[in-house]
Amino acid sequence: MKALLLAGGMGTRLRPLTEGLPKPMALVGNRPWLEHVLLHLKQEGIRDFVMAVHHSQDVIRHYFGDGSRWGVSIQYAVEQTRLGTAGAIKNAEPLLGDRFLVLNADIILRSPIVPLLDYHEQSGALVTIGLTEVDHPSHYGVVEQDERGRIIRFVEKPSLHEAPSRRINAGLYVMEKKALASIPAQQEVSIERETFPQLIESHGGVFGFLLGGYWLDMGTTDRYRKLHRDLLDRKIALTLKEKERGQGIWVGEHTDVGSGVLFVPPVLIGDRVRIGDRSVIGPYTVIGDDCEIGAQVRCSESILWDRCKVHREAQLNHCIFGSGLELGAGHLLHEAVMNVLPGGVAQ
Ligand code: GTP
Repeated sequence: MKALLLAGGMGTRLRPLTEGLPKPMALVGNRPWLEHVLLHLKQEGIRDFVMAVHHSQDVIRHYFGDGSRWGVSIQYAVEQTRLGTAGAIKNAEPLLGDRFLVLNADIILRSPIVPLLDYHEQSGALVTIGLTEVDHPSHYGVVEQDERGRIIRFVEKPSLHEAPSRRINAGLYVMEKKALASIPAQQEVSIERETFPQLIESHGGVFGFLLGGYWLDMGTTDRYRKLHRDLLDRKIALTLKEKERGQGIWVGEHTDVGSGVLFVPPVLIGDRVRIGDRSVIGPYTVIGDDCEIGAQVRCSESILWDRCKVHREAQLNHCIFGSGLELGAGHLLHEAVMNVLPGGVAQ
């Protein structure tokens, strides 16, 4: 079974982190989220992938290549123009088999895949939408199902008492190729807003299956921060390359920690990081590979991607820095989300 990973969106809600970077390539726990997705699906027995790419596609192709480094096979379906989620699946059709898995590559999901595939097989569905339950259904499109699990309708952003359930589309589908027949080629079409509602209306066999386990859509900076909190609180188990050297203190290889440095757990420090004397790092802080932190820096509740430089006596609180950002000596930053834009300008 092949898995099609939708990784071509613009990621506007995560700007400026997604300037020049596809959202699924955002670093999570010091490696691109898309790599975590690949590792998870590989664990679930999937070896063949198609990546549907558009915005900043070279970043993905350059990082993953043909997938052999991960022991999997990756093909690419490239969109010349923005095609939306259904248009992207249609564009990848020649690379897909009769039945395939589709995943929004920015969804944080830790759920076994086999029960979903079994349910799809047994129900004879054309499409099975993986569902997750949320506390606040009024922010989402909520599904109403019959007793067999067939989806009768989506109710967009219902008030609490109108919501037929707390179940929403989790961004993971099993699809039969026949489901693509009605999608026009090379046009922008949304699977959530157009294709699924049309199939449901024509009684096309759209079922829903409740997935267990952790689920989060990392599409906004708040949720991106929450994801890191959950990671450091061990609410989501991801494969980290760093080793836990003390309770809640993960440190990578070849990292050089100065004298009198205090780690306030939980913290995650990448490979080849240098931290100057008497700096205080944490809690809830992630420092990316090859970062240089000067002496007496205070860094808390912040996420720094790789190659950032923070000069001596600077203070950061609740910040997110994209790759290669530099903060001058003695500067104080609170709640900043910054990135180096193409051309070298910091925003
Ligand atoms: P926002 O601009 O912040 O809404 O993000 P987005 O463009 O990524 O949209 P959204 O979060 O709705 O996308 C859900 C998933 O579908 C993400 O993994 C996107 O990468 C992917 N996606 C969205 N639009 C496209 C598209 O036109 N082509 C491809 N290949 N993937 C898409």
